[in-house]
Amino acid sequence: MKAVVYEKYGPPEVHQLKEVKKPIPKNNEILVKIHASAINSSDSTLTRGKPFLGRLWQGFLKPKNKILGYDVAGRVEAVGGNVKQFQPGDEVFGDIFACGGGAFADYVSVPENALALKPVNISFEGAAAVPVAAVCALQGLRDHGQIQPGQKVLINGASGGIGTFAVQIAKSFEVEVTGVCSTRNLDMVRSIGADHVIDYTQEDFTQNGQRYDLIIDNVGDPSVYKRFYKRSLSPEGICVIIAGSFFLQMFLGPWMSMTGGNKIGTFMADGTKKEDLVFIRDLIEAGKVEPVIDRQYPLCEVADAIRYLEGGHAGGKVIITVEQSSKTW
Ligand SMILES: NC(=O)c1ccc[n+]([C@@H]2O[C@H](COP(=O)([O-])OP(=O)(O)OC[C@H]3O[C@@H](n4cnc5c(N)ncnc54)[C@H](OP(=O)(O)O)[C@@H]3O)[C@@H](O)[C@H]2O)c1
Repeated sequence: MKAVVYEKYGPPEVHQLKEVKKPIPKNNEILVKIHASAINSSDSTLTRGKPFLGRLWQGFLKPKNKILGYDVAGRVEAVGGNVKQFQPGDEVFGDIFACGGGAFADYVSVPENALALKPVNISFEGAAAVPVAAVCALQGLRDHGQIQPGQKVLINGASGGIGTFAVQIAKSFEVEVTGVCSTRNLDMVRSIGADHVIDYTQEDFTQNGQRYDLIIDNVGDPSVYKRFYKRSLSPEGICVIIAGSFFLQMFLGPWMSMTGGNKIGTFMADGTKKEDLVFIRDLIEAGKVEPVIDRQYPLCEVADAIRYLEGGHAGGKVIITVEQSSKTW
């Protein structure tokens, strides 16, 4: 099978399309013919091996898992002897980070619990956009942000991979959403349901006198956190920082919470919670959430796709189309 393989840390060009052995499913595994994957910030971090802490699970000197790609959408081709939930032909999707990744390839074999049935009303490309970003947005809003109907919620970085899901998932909780993005993405963020939009190139939301019950931050600029905290949160408000460094996640969030009345904190999304993926699938099938896709790249252009995401201005998700690229390769 074809796979995009890397043997050493470095710029995105370390990824090379190669012929590798097709996996054979173990007893508890399903073999998935991959149709699409998506790019996430972790693909960039683990390509470059920077920040260095990423090497804790990917190996200090060279990458342990040589095929990246954590979002997967495809069709079950074969199942192991103990598999109960799936059969060949099922359309599935999920986040395979906990299984070591491997979605930048024609096939992957993973434990059945890693995946769920794909939403019936969207394409494989749409489904590949969902797992990492939408589950992170859901956990940020619901579990860490304790979102409640009627609240005023601000999504900073509303136009990106996580932000476009955060806006729509927040609306499904019946809140008033303000999305912050650049000029070119204002209409898109409005179109996915934001009640108000703020163009950060024209206006600093921490200076406009508005206060929010919940702020979700997908941008990760620590120089403004004190301003979020002091000027933009309501007295009982919560600020959930999704973007940001490991250091921030470990120390700064808890410290800032302890030194003031508001709650401000960070978290690492847990992509193994299948019930959260199913929760989002239900929202998609109910028409309440629709993936926003910025660009699609064939498998052989994973390096270009990672570089594009690293630019920091994706308008929705960046997708890798595996099935199509295999045909044209
Ligand atoms: N905590 C976790 O578990 C977790 C999990 C996954 C990812 N993350 C982190 O979450 C962050 C967002 O990820 P993503 O996949 O959504 O990234 P993304 O797709 O690159 O989106 C980032 C968005 O930020 C916007 N932006 C840039 N500068 C801005 C500013 N000054 N003010 C407001 N918006 C601004 C950009 O919009 P414009 O083009 O409109 O400027 C862009 O759409 C990354 O830092 C990633 O590492 C955290």
